Amino acid sequence: MDLERILNLNQFEAHAREQMEPYAFAYYCGAAGDEITMRRNLDAWNRFSLRPRVFVDISSVDISSSMLGTPVSMPVGFAPTALHKLAHPDGELASARATGEAGALICLSTLSTYSIEEVAKAGRGPRWFQLYVHKDRELAIELVQRAVASGYSGIVVTADLPVPGYREREFAHDLTVPEDASPANFPNAATEEEFNDYLDHLHDRSLTWDDLSWIRETAGEVPVLVKGILTEEDAILASEHGAGGIIVSNHGGRQLDRCPAPIDVLEEIVQVAGECEVFLDGGVRRGIDVVTALALGAKGVFVGRPFLYALAAGGEEGVGRALELLRAEIENAMTLLGVSRVNEITRAHVGPN
Ligand SMILES: Cc1cc2nc3c(=O)[nH]c(=O)nc-3n(C[C@H](O)[C@H](O)[C@H](O)COP(=O)(O)O)c2cc1C
Repeated sequence: MDLERILNLNQFEAHAREQMEPYAFAYYCGAAGDEITMRRNLDAWNRFSLRPRVFVDISSVDISSSMLGTPVSMPVGFAPTALHKLAHPDGELASARATGEAGALICLSTLSTYSIEEVAKAGRGPRWFQLYVHKDRELAIELVQRAVASGYSGIVVTADLPVPGYREREFAHDLTVPEDASPANFPNAATEEEFNDYLDHLHDRSLTWDDLSWIRETAGEVPVLVKGILTEEDAILASEHGAGGIIVSNHGGRQLDRCPAPIDVLEEIVQVAGECEVFLDGGVRRGIDVVTALALGAKGVFVGRPFLYALAAGGEEGVGRALELLRAEIENAMTLLGVSRVNEITRAHVGPN
C-alpha cells in the first residue's frame, strides 16, 4: 500500500482492519464494557484549548527530549502492547527498528512475540521493558534481569491488570493465539492454552506497593515506573515507594470501564507526584494532543493502537510513517504555539476555553 497517502494516525485503522484476521483486529481495537472510557480518551482532548503566542522567533524547532534519563528524538513512545505478530510477521522487530530509526522510545511488553534479546538486537534505539509479574517470582525477576542486561533503560510495572477487563469483542471472537504468535519471553508458553492460562492463572493478582522494592532492587540503577495510575492517592503512594516515574493510563479503556481519561487527571497527578516524572497514554492521536499533555505536566506520551495499526498496514515502514507524521504534527504545533523547545511548553499554553 502507498503509505504516503496516509496523512494522520487515525487513517491507519481502516487499513489494519483489512489486513488483520477479524479475531486479531477485535483484540486490538476492543475495550472494556460499553467502551465508554475508550471514547472518553479520544473526546477529552477537545475540552482543552491551546493558547498560541505570536512574534516569537521560532526559526528552528527541536522536539528532542529525555524521558526519565533516556534521550529521545521526540517525546512520544510506542506503548507496551502484546502480540505484535498478530499485526505483522516481523512483529516487535519491525516496531523496534522503526522507533530506533526515528530515535523514539519503544516499551516492550512482557507478552511480546519476539524475545527481549531479539528486540534489543533488532532496534538499537531507546527502549524500556514492561513487566507483568508472574506468580512465579523467579520468572519475573529473571525478566527484569534480562531486560537490564539487554540495555532496556526503564522497567515499567503495569499495575492496572490484576485480571483482564471485561472485553466483549474478545469474547465474541474467541481470541486464540496461534503458535507462531505466542509470547516469546517464556520458554514454556509456546501454545495458545498457555497464553490464556498465563492471563487467567499465572499472572500475580496479589501484587501490592511493597512489591516495588524487590523490583527496584532487581532493576538496580535502571528506574522503575508504575503504569496505570489514575488517582492522586496512588500517585502519592508510587512516589513514596520510590517509583522513578508514573504513567497515567487506563490501559486504552481496556480495563475498568468508566475510568477517567488520563488527560483529565494528569494535572492533579503531576501536582502530587513529587520526584516522579509523569507520562501519559490513552487516545493520543495528534501532535496537538502531545503538546497539550506536555503543557499539563507530562514529560512524554505513549501511543498504542495507532502504532499497532500502522504495523499491520505496512510493517516497519508503516510504523516509520506513523512516527514521521506525528513528528511533523508536533513540530507544526510547537511552531504555531510559539515554542522552539519541548521544555518551553508551559501551563500557560493551555486554557480551558
Ligand atoms: C492490543 C493491545 C495490547 C496491549 N498490551 C499491553 C501490554 O501487554 N502491557 C501493558 O502494560 N499495556 C498494554 N496495552 C495498553 C497500552 O500500553 C496503552 O495503555 C494503550 O494502548 C493506550 O491507549 P491507545 O491505544 O488509545 O493509544 C495494550 C493495548 C492494546 C490496544
